[in-house]
This record gives sequence, structure tokens and C-alpha cells, in this order.
Amino acid sequence: MSTLWHGRFEGGPAEELMAFTVSLPFDSRLAVDDLAGSRAHVRGLARGGILTEAERDDVLAALDAVEAELAAGTFAFVPSDEDIHTAVERRVTELAGPAGAKLHTGRSRNDQVATDLRLFAKRELAVVAERVLALQQVLHDRAVEAGDAYLPGYTHLQQAQPVLLAHHLLAHGWALSRDLDRLGDTIRRLDVSPLGAGALAGSSLPLDPAGTAADLGFGGVFPNSLDAVSDRDFVAEALFDLALLGVHLSRLAEEVILWSTEEFGFLGLADAYSTGSSMLPQKKNPDIAELTRGKTGRLIGNLTGLLATLKALPLAYNRDLQEDKEPFFDSLDTVVLALAAMTGLLASSTFRLDTMAAAADTPTSAATDLAEHLVAGGMPFRDAHAVVGALVRRSLDEGVALRDLVEQAPELGPDAVFLLDRGTAVRRRTTPGGAGPEPVAGQLEAFAERLAADRGRWGG
Ligand code: ARG
Repeated sequence: MSTLWHGRFEGGPAEELMAFTVSLPFDSRLAVDDLAGSRAHVRGLARGGILTEAERDDVLAALDAVEAELAAGTFAFVPSDEDIHTAVERRVTELAGPAGAKLHTGRSRNDQVATDLRLFAKRELAVVAERVLALQQVLHDRAVEAGDAYLPGYTHLQQAQPVLLAHHLLAHGWALSRDLDRLGDTIRRLDVSPLGAGALAGSSLPLDPAGTAADLGFGGVFPNSLDAVSDRDFVAEALFDLALLGVHLSRLAEEVILWSTEEFGFLGLADAYSTGSSMLPQKKNPDIAELTRGKTGRLIGNLTGLLATLKALPLAYNRDLQEDKEPFFDSLDTVVLALAAMTGLLASSTFRLDTMAAAADTPTSAATDLAEHLVAGGMPFRDAHAVVGALVRRSLDEGVALRDLVEQAPELGPDAVFLLDRGTAVRRRTTPGGAGPEPVAGQLEAFAERLAADRGRWGG
């Protein structure tokens, strides 16, 4: 077997070595980026006079042919193709002869793979962003459609105060806005070309790192060759962004799971977005939401796994770095699929507004309003809290309706009873950013504006 590096070696590599070290089965996913990097590199070599214009054109034509073969599925890989870089270069050399053999001049797979992966990350993180925007659109649309519908808001998963359904849905929407910000920040930081760093130290040949960076559409060029080939911060950052996005999806998923239980009954799943049981005929299960919740474990694992790989790696390139790709690909694929599934699930679910309202209209959910009524009349809040707390306790202990106790209470009386009327408590959440109809109307507008701005930013 003839490898790229056979010159210094007498014998070929052991079968076990190849079996253990090949990355082709997964890094062939970088093919388009590898071709783009090679085109820019070849043009740079020609600008430096290392390749003639004719040689450059021969290599570019061979790269086009390789691209066509890969696209058509006719590219014949051979056992010595360790990775996509090796495979492409081998084929270019077969096709373009001596000119092809000049392709790798001044370049190492170390700066090559770092370049490929940054190009890949820029494109694929933007795909994630598009999917996030689609989910946000559904959250927005369902919030608009929910109007003044309300449900119990929870702390400690105990009913606390009623909130508009729109408010609840938008809470998830804002978390996703921050995920978009993070993806944008990550892309901004990774938008630096490592091409021209060589194996670790640059080159004696007249390379043109700034020119190839501009050719590839990078925003900048590396300041230090050692850092350029060994920096995988961008993969770790992307994995964090994806893990936190997954955490957000898992929180939404958990609520879908809870809300679709018979006990809650707040949400009905569409047939197309739920599964049945092989044994229990009555079951309709929220498997999409459960897998979204479950797969978040993998997203977190991919992040911590890569951090462990990077920890204490000496400069510059080490083969350990090849371990960056599989977790990255896995997290991207997982998140993109989860986003699509959760988007469809939310768009197709039925909100059971009557059940939500009934759950929110329990008299105790107005307890804070009773206390605030007393405060408005001049009573210190701590005293008001105690008065209402005592009424709630009596109501529970003696089985007397809170409404009656409020009516009889000297501090409250008949004037305060309206606070227990259905739908009253949520309307009284009037402060900025609060859960009632007044602030939520403004919030919906702000969210729509933010969504439009993000769409503009991401070109969606
Ligand atoms: N497949 C390798 C990777 O993904 C490419 C770089 C190999 N470089 C080397 N010096 N062996 O990291």
C-alpha cells in the first residue's frame, strides 16, 4: 500500500494501523470544503509563482473532475486513502500528473483539515440557525393564536400564578434568541483562515495566507501558525452552543411531556407526531419530546468528550485532534433533527385552553392579588402576606371556600371578592415583561421584530 508519506518508510502500514487511524468514513463529509480549500491553495501557489498558470488550471480542472466523481458517486476510493484529504490529492495527481503532484506544496494536512473544518462549521452552524428560526416562528405564531388564553404558571412545579399561554411560549422563544446570538458569536470568532500555517511553522515558499483567506471568504487570517493548526476552540464552542440549545429544547420537551399527560391535559399531540404502544392499545406517547430530552445527554457528552480530548494537548498538531469531527457531526445532526421534529410537533399540537384556564382559576392562584390589594390599601406586604396565608390555611383546614372567607375578612371584605373571579389574576399582571395581556402584547411585537432582524442577519 502506497501512502502519502511512503518516502521515509521501507514497508507499508500494518492493517491494524490503517483500521485504527483512518478517518475517511466520517471526514468524507468535508469533501466540498476540502475542494474549496485546495482551489484557493492552488490559486495562491500560482500567485506566488510556484505553479505556472497552466499547472494551476490543470489542477483546478482535476479538482472539478474529483468534485463531479464524488457527486456522482463514481469516485473510487482505495485502501490507502486515510482521509478525504489524502483521497482527493491522490486522485488529483492521477488526473493532472506532475501538476497534481504540486497541489500539496507548502501545505500540510494540519492546516488543511483546520481550514476544512472551519469552512464546514460556518456553513453548518448557519443551517442550525435557520432551523432555530423556524421553531421560533412556530412559537410566535402559536403565541399570537393563543390570544388571552392562560394557564397556571409554576415554580417548583407547584401552581404559582396564572400566566398567558403566549407568555409561556415566548419564554422558550427568547431562550432560542440567545442560542442564535451564541451561534453568531461562535461563527464570528471561527472566521479565521489557518491555511498557510503548514504543518506548524509556515513555509520557506512564497505562500499567500491573506490571499487564500480572502479567496475562501474568511474574515481574517491566523496570526500564529502553531495556534492555527492546533486551535479547536471553535469546535468546543460550537459543541457548547449546540448542547445549550439542546438543553433549551429539552426543557420545552419536558413541558410537552408533562402537558400531554392525562393529569395535566393541557396539550393534545397530533397523530403524526406521537407514537403508540405495542401492547397498550390506548397509548399515545410523546416519543419526539422524550428523544429530544434524551439526546441532550449526547450533546452534553460530545462537549465534555472534546474538552477532555483537548485538555493538556501540547502544541501543535496531534492526531488526537482527529477526534474533533465525530462529536461535532453528531451534535449537528442531532440538533438539526430535534429542531425539525419539535417544530412539527409544536405546530401540530392542540392546546386545551379550557383545561388550562380551569387549572389556573383555582381560588388560591389569586392569593398574591389579595395580598397586593391589601398593600394597595397601605398594609405592609409582610402583614398582607400573613393575612392571606391565614385565610388560605383556614380554607384548606376547614373546607370553607376562600371566596367566603375573603368576603368575611375585615381587612378584605366584599370589595375584594372580584379578585377571585375567573381570569382576573392574569389580567392584573401589568408590569413590563409580565405575564398579563397588556405587557404580552408589547412583548409579542418585540419578539416579532427580533425574529425579523435575526432572519435578516442569517439570510433566512
Ligand atoms: N485526518 C486527520 C485529522 O482529522 C488529518 C490530519 C492528519 N495530519 C497528520 N499529521 N497526521 O486530524
